[in-house]
Amino acid sequence: MTALQHVKLGTYYVVNLPDPDDFAFWRERARALVQCDVPPDRVAWVEPGATGSLFSHGERRMPVPDDPDRPVRASKRYLSLARNAALHSDPDRFALLYRLLWRLQSNPRMMEDKADADVRRIEELDKAVRRDAHKMHAFVRFRMVEERDEEGQPHEHYVAWFEPDHHILRREAGFFVRRFASMRWSILTPAGTLHWDGEVLREGPPAQRGDAPQGDPAEDLWRKYYASIFNPARLKIGAMLKEMPKKYWKNMPETALIPELVAGAQRRESAMVAAGELEFAERPETLDAIDKAIHACRQCPIGSLDNQAVMGEGPLGAVLMIVGEQPGDQEDLAGRPFVGPAGQVLDAGLEEAGIDRRRAYVTNAVKHFKYVQRGKRRLHQSPTAKEIDTCRWWQEAERAIVKPKLVLALGASAARGLLGKTVSIAKARGEPIPLDDGSELWVTAHPSYLLRLDGPAREEQQRLFAADLAAVKERLDQMAEAP
Ligand code: URA
Repeated sequence: MTALQHVKLGTYYVVNLPDPDDFAFWRERARALVQCDVPPDRVAWVEPGATGSLFSHGERRMPVPDDPDRPVRASKRYLSLARNAALHSDPDRFALLYRLLWRLQSNPRMMEDKADADVRRIEELDKAVRRDAHKMHAFVRFRMVEERDEEGQPHEHYVAWFEPDHHILRREAGFFVRRFASMRWSILTPAGTLHWDGEVLREGPPAQRGDAPQGDPAEDLWRKYYASIFNPARLKIGAMLKEMPKKYWKNMPETALIPELVAGAQRRESAMVAAGELEFAERPETLDAIDKAIHACRQCPIGSLDNQAVMGEGPLGAVLMIVGEQPGDQEDLAGRPFVGPAGQVLDAGLEEAGIDRRRAYVTNAVKHFKYVQRGKRRLHQSPTAKEIDTCRWWQEAERAIVKPKLVLALGASAARGLLGKTVSIAKARGEPIPLDDGSELWVTAHPSYLLRLDGPAREEQQRLFAADLAAVKERLDQMAEAP
């Protein structure tokens, strides 16, 4: 049937979506409808539970395309906007997506028309969904509940209540699984629930606010921590409300402090200016406590990107501590330092020098991955000196606990994180630099720097890198022999 025939015969199709966020289902139906030339005004898209709809009873027989392989045009930009827009709570979103898809068939460049009302609308929906996801990443607050397993053993279960504006819960599950992989947690929302037991993610029915715990002793700690990282010098009330709309406040323990913090901001700002430095809460005293705290750290903007904090790893009491710049893309996904390409260069260099990585404590000067999004790729961005200095607090806390005798800084950012000032690698390498805690710092190039070079320049830098690691090994051997 042609489009005209559908209209003439008054044929009307009703598509009942199994779930409000089922983009794959919508896409498959939309494809078939386009292949059958069904115009947008002949289709109704009905979400589960839609009330008051004339069409909410049963799917009208779907047309079958004569040629299921007939190409359907959908630009990359359209698809990327459509995937997000499909999660918006606007009941007309699927009709909009179909109308755009239909129009794309005759005008493949339509998505470039910024004045087009449909294009503008899909962009608005996309933006609102991305913003909702960002808010969820930033504002979900878990509260601890003590539970017992079948054998009566106590375990901690972290439960959060969150009210997303759009159908993002299922799509964002992966973010929380990655970020809180080792915790047992549940996220409860009015539209459904997610439950992670450390291995398996389950979905559950909608919940009510009263199903989630309303507070626990950890909140005091959380508040204390927040009060300490709150930077009155940066207080901008308008911007704060924009970033942290009041609707989220009720779920966030730290927001109870906001009026007090705002009132005290002026006073604290003067004190900070006088002291010339940021204040933090007491330094965490275990690596676990640092790990938890860095996940909550938003002291600089890097922590608010879509990433997870990457904690150092290695034995307590390791004689050697290796410090990189910041986690890269792969480290961020894996939640472990130096597991990507730079990690391979490092591992090869350590092996060649005879240094056992498993006996070293490996960490980074900056705990979160800083990047810019380019299409699907996340491109590394170097942290600023200020960001490195801010994150120094965590690296120093790790150092105070691990107590290495020798610290190896990989690259200029790591060296800055350890020294609090910028040094040139060429000048600093090859000699130990004493640190305040009695340990000694050795500086070498960052392995990513070697990866960016080629030809003779790379060979030369590889030689210097190998020589630095050999010097470190020699010093470690001397330390092992010393009484
Ligand atoms: N580069 C770093 O500096 N650290 C990592 O963990 C990975 C790459």
